[in-house]
Amino acid sequence: MTSPSTTTLSLVDTDPAELAVDAIVIGLHSQTGEREADAGPAGTLLLASGAESIAAAFDGKLTETLALLGATGAPGEVVKLASLGTVTAPVVAAVGLGPEPTGAAPAPETLRRAAGAVVRALAGARRVALTLPLPDDADASPALRAVAEGALLGAYRFAGYKTRPQPARREPVAEVLIAVPEAGDAGARAEIERAHAVAGAVRLSRDWVNTAPNMLRPPAFADAVAEAARAAGLGVEVLDETALAAGGYGGIIAVGQGSEAPPRLVKLTYTPAEGGNGKRVALVGKGITFDTGGISIKPAQGMWEMKSDMGGAAAVGAAMLAIAALKPAVTVTGYLPMAENMPSGTSYRPGDVITMYNGKKVEVLNTDAEGRMVLGDALARACEDGADYLFETSTLTGGQVIALGKRVAGLMGTPELCERVRAAGDAVGEPAWPMPLPDDVRKGMDSDVADISQVNAGMDRAGHMLQGGVFLREFVTDDVAWAHIDIAGPSYHSGEPTGYWTKGGTGVPLRTLVHLVEEIAAAG
Ligand code: BES
Ligand code: MN
Ligand code: ZN
Repeated sequence: MTSPSTTTLSLVDTDPAELAVDAIVIGLHSQTGEREADAGPAGTLLLASGAESIAAAFDGKLTETLALLGATGAPGEVVKLASLGTVTAPVVAAVGLGPEPTGAAPAPETLRRAAGAVVRALAGARRVALTLPLPDDADASPALRAVAEGALLGAYRFAGYKTRPQPARREPVAEVLIAVPEAGDAGARAEIERAHAVAGAVRLSRDWVNTAPNMLRPPAFADAVAEAARAAGLGVEVLDETALAAGGYGGIIAVGQGSEAPPRLVKLTYTPAEGGNGKRVALVGKGITFDTGGISIKPAQGMWEMKSDMGGAAAVGAAMLAIAALKPAVTVTGYLPMAENMPSGTSYRPGDVITMYNGKKVEVLNTDAEGRMVLGDALARACEDGADYLFETSTLTGGQVIALGKRVAGLMGTPELCERVRAAGDAVGEPAWPMPLPDDVRKGMDSDVADISQVNAGMDRAGHMLQGGVFLREFVTDDVAWAHIDIAGPSYHSGEPTGYWTKGGTGVPLRTLVHLVEEIAAAG
């Protein structure tokens, strides 16, 4: 299932007032600080740079008109007005950017959210031009990247399954023009190309998450990923249930055995030209296509959202496609363990002892802690294949949502690598925060009968997110720098659309992973 139409970006450097588009977008700051008492209603508003020629066409009445229409410049606010012949575009749309940062351009994330919000609000228009404040120098790249990504992601819409045409539904914007000082600039053009690759990957990962879980069980998910990966020129290997059993992938088999749809392990390989810089990156993503909890069944309320329990695998699989397009100078291997966690007569059960891929014996206490079972095998396989850096991401624990909320991911692993992930997340607008792996949490997972319990032996949920990280560490070898990114909250947005987040899958942390791979390719 893919989204109905795609949106394309291009650059323009002609006068925005004369662009033949359906709508022209300008940025609007809410002014703070001291201002003259008699400034009037418009005194609270400030047009962002880039809007100069539009403002001139309105004879200096633009901020006043926007104020009359109720604009405040608050982030994400969109106010539209008819241009009535002042500029070529019939509609001018002002998007709020919040207060103007003193002496600096708005933060990239502010621009990314504004571009997303305004392109979404302009659905129904075919061609839209964005004039947003972009620095006019070498620093322009992060701002342009943010605007480009935000526009493409804000235009995303999941096709859905409605059998009747929806006449009232306005189609996403098809073409976005971004006003820049120099449209022929090689750096700017490269950013547009990169945004198509990266945002295209995020959109695909959102599609996979939003697909109904009966239409994306492990064999179908594996086929979809394998097909896209082959088309992108990646190496593809799919282990089916027979190969998994023969290979000793006890964790993946245990979780998958309760479902009629058998489990899979998909391995994707990107090989750079001439071996790249010699570094190897492994990406691992949790691919539970539906998590009922299994025999330790979840309550009905909200269970349907567990169709998103493959968000990690969706992010990793789609990140591999973006990597294939961007061609970084580093070897990247993706591992996507896929299973459906179901209760049935063949399910694994609390009390079972499972031999994992690395030989460790795990005592199962709660079949709902299934993510760590499939990930343990995938992590051990990634280490066996060899990696210098290992990034794993999963909708692993409700504890992550309790501790850090719906926007900030939890980070555990090698401290230096966690710091790199935190910085990368900060740079791309996918915040993540480091959490510890305490000895006492590991101690609490000592099992009477096996090498480790899958959760705290007394089923104490204290430090719940940390239990997940501590468990996963058992499957990573000491020679590998690793980071576990718990995305239970940020991978799925259940509220109304906001910024460049639409309802459903968000694509987090795909852009962080791509950023990290590019960084390792550039610097090692
Ligand atoms: N997939 C869930 C975690 C989850 C919860 C993701 C909420 C997204 C939103 C995971 O498999 C799970 O069920 N975790 C349990 C672990 C417990 C049984 C140790 C949890 O978080 O309650
Ligand atoms: Mn679960
Ligand atoms: Zn789960």
